[in-house]
Amino acid sequence: MDDLIAAAAAVRENAHAPYSNFKVGAALRTRDGQVFAGCNVENVAFPEGTCAEAGAIAAMCAAGAREIVAVAVIADSPAPVPCCGGCRQKIAEFAGADVPVMMATTSGARRQVTVAELLPGAFDAGFMK
Ligand code: THU
Repeated sequence: MDDLIAAAAAVRENAHAPYSNFKVGAALRTRDGQVFAGCNVENVAFPEGTCAEAGAIAAMCAAGAREIVAVAVIADSPAPVPCCGGCRQKIAEFAGADVPVMMATTSGARRQVTVAELLPGAFDAGFMK
């Protein structure tokens, strides 16, 4: 998980967050060992902004990968930054219930949970059968 936290911290530097001044970095590992990273990208039309996790997932899909086995998210926050609700659903699209999600702060705090803990009672494709 340390390499994912490092990748998330590095990409966080590239966040475009002039409105919130809250930079976030995310990195994920796929089943075949590739690492994809993303940062939040805000927009003057506020709802158009995207989260760091969404950026990492978009990079993964663009590369043709689909299966997440670990996630790390980092921000300069007083406590390990939790993924927003929308990103929990986005992660669950590509990650199994037991996949670890590491939440971190730039000052070194860490909290690891699973996808199932992040999104209990998740809506998934099974409900559409
Ligand atoms: N943000 C993320 O990128 N990921 C999270 O998990 C929490 C929130 C971003 C969105 C917005 O650019 C800023 O943090 C403040 O909400």
